[in-house]
Amino acid sequence: MSVADHDSLATAGEALDGSCFRYQSDALYAEGVPLALIAEQCGTPCYVYSRAAIEDAYREFSGALDGVPHRVCYAVKANSNIAVLQVLARLGSGFDVVSGGELERVLKAGGDASRVIFSGVGKTPVEMARALQVGVGCINIESPAELDVLETVAAQTGKVAPVGIRVNPDVDARTHPYISTGLKENKFGVPIDQAITLAARVRSSPHLDLQGIGCHIGSQITDLAPLSEAFASVLALAERIEQDGPPLQHLDLGGGLGVRYRDESPIPIDHYARSIKRLLANRRDLLLNFEPGRRIVARAGVLLTRVQYLKQQGTKHFAIVDAAMNDLIRPALYQAWHSVQPVDRGALGKRCEWDLVGPVCESGDFLARARTLSLSAGHLLAIGEAGAYSFVMSSNYNARGRAPEVLVDGSKFTVVRRRETIEDALALEQLLP
Ligand code: LLP
Repeated sequence: MSVADHDSLATAGEALDGSCFRYQSDALYAEGVPLALIAEQCGTPCYVYSRAAIEDAYREFSGALDGVPHRVCYAVKANSNIAVLQVLARLGSGFDVVSGGELERVLKAGGDASRVIFSGVGKTPVEMARALQVGVGCINIESPAELDVLETVAAQTGKVAPVGIRVNPDVDARTHPYISTGLKENKFGVPIDQAITLAARVRSSPHLDLQGIGCHIGSQITDLAPLSEAFASVLALAERIEQDGPPLQHLDLGGGLGVRYRDESPIPIDHYARSIKRLLANRRDLLLNFEPGRRIVARAGVLLTRVQYLKQQGTKHFAIVDAAMNDLIRPALYQAWHSVQPVDRGALGKRCEWDLVGPVCESGDFLARARTLSLSAGHLLAIGEAGAYSFVMSSNYNARGRAPEVLVDGSKFTVVRRRETIEDALALEQLLP
């Protein structure tokens, strides 16, 4: 079977994702470990991450920004497995969290609280109090109402809250509408004019300390222009705020950099870094915070699944696999395209256009559509680009246990989250007396 038979770019010895998922002869490996071995030992479906791919992506991102004071605060929502967070913490990463749960995961993984940014439109008083107690670096507030609550919590706990203001610059990130966050009709951030009023309010409170302002306009962005436009308006706003008081300490430029799933052209990191360096050439006093998620982990993971049954219905060919929309919801939710690779590309099977569907009782339960593959029951497949927004968005729908997560490091692998069992699920529930 020729390489072109498959829908991604891997060739013998060439990388599927960066350099960490590659074929050796016909067998697909994660670093030095055959994926078939992981499937045999851990079962399927199963998430597999490459430590080297995560580290490479982090270093590439941070390295491009050398020369400007910056902090990479990995967006935990993309993949919050504590071993993944630990890998990043050991590289010195900060973290962007959006819930008390994410904060606890970072602390458990050895992350430094002072390098944590707490984002999100709906932080509760309990979450705020915990963030102040552990000493997070910054709490980004997104509305006047939220600021009121933070001030009260800070006063009650006797702490001074480090405050950032998230601005909504009303810029179209030109991405999927569900993951676009910088338009005025989106729930995120505050309008520019309101940010000025809020900044004055923060400064007038003894319980609040204004640290910076920032924005995050969306995710899977592949066009630099809207990012540059948003950053320019945040910088202009910073200068207006600084006219009425001391200089700000940081700008938070959010995350959002896209990756290649199919044929997208992601923004090269050095282009991104260059445009930022140019914009902020006169502001080397400002610390720049970044919140990348997808760019660090998306291509560092695959979802392993096994074909259970093949089925023809009219003109359609369905491969019923053992992973489903509860494991990976991106195709159903965003019409997202993920690559599909045979784990043994020498395996023979029926060759046609297959829809890969799961066992969940919904027609929206598909992982990929119309993929030309040679399949037989029992074949193992690797769904690519599954390191970000994949396991973290999984559910127990149809009473399915969540898949395990495995982290490969060279020729070794560790189960960093075991498969959920029915006992795990039932332990949380209670029959009536
Ligand atoms: N910072 C903030 C405040 C965010 O809301 C997000 C993502 C990030 C950083 C990280 O963005 P990234 O660098 O990963 O693009 N579930 C969707 C993506 C949702 C992104 C939400 N916010 C998906 O599967 O495509």
